[in-house]
Amino acid sequence: MTLARVHRLAAAALGLFLILHLGNHLALLAGIEAHRSLQSLLRPFYRFAPVEAALLALFALQIGLGLTLARRRGLGRGMGRGWALAQVASGLYLAFFLVQHVPAVLLARAATPPVDTDARFAAAVLSGWQGLYFAPYYVLALTALATHLAAAAHFRGRTLHWLPWVGLGLGLLVVTGLTGAFG
Ligand code: HEM
Ligand code: HEM
Repeated sequence: MTLARVHRLAAAALGLFLILHLGNHLALLAGIEAHRSLQSLLRPFYRFAPVEAALLALFALQIGLGLTLARRRGLGRGMGRGWALAQVASGLYLAFFLVQHVPAVLLARAATPPVDTDARFAAAVLSGWQGLYFAPYYVLALTALATHLAAAAHFRGRTLHWLPWVGLGLGLLVVTGLTGAFG
């Protein structure tokens, strides 16, 4: 099996978590209670130890495979084409985002006393000067995810120019929801 195929299969497995994760954050638009109830419903699944271990391992694998695929492709071949550049740039941003996002959550949970990594936790970094970093950090994460999937679709024969814009829109909605609820 090629590395690209493993990367694709891992992406399919992670897709379900990502849909639920994003849906959970969008629920904030319906109020803090909606976010809290959905999170309580979902946590037993993604925090179930074997599931969580697989989830974290798969994200680590995606980063390792993605960086290898990007390096193999090289800067010469294909990089001049818009979608190839978008694929690598969005992948690199996802790696940059994940190496901050996942340890931030896990370290907060492991702190004494443990921090509840709920919506308030996610929103805390958006207030004050640090918001200048963290608002684009969140918005770009969803833009990069959608762009990465749009590039995958493009190379399979379906160009979805609108998809990165949907990612940008969803990112703006999540940040608006977080700042609106706790700002
Ligand atoms: C959240 C994590 C990630 C997900 C869900 C994801 C998803 C995907 C998907 C679905 C494809 C299309 C595979 C195919 O159709 O064959 C792909 C391709 C690719 N991804 Fe990722 N990816 C992730 C992280 C990364 C990272 C961190 C990089 C690093 C730069 C990266 C670089 C690439 C490259 C270069 C390709 C093209 C592979 C090829 O066909 O040669 N990805 N990714
Ligand atoms: C704007 C976007 C995002 C926000 C506000 C956000 C917020 C959060 C929060 C609050 C948690 C803790 C969940 C809990 O305690 O139950 C979390 C966990 C996590 N997030 Fe995100 N997230 C965002 C985007 C993403 C993206 C794009 C990815 C992947 C590409 C991702 C991957 C993860 C992972 C792997 C965990 C750890 C799950 C666990 O083991 O408990 N997040 N996120």
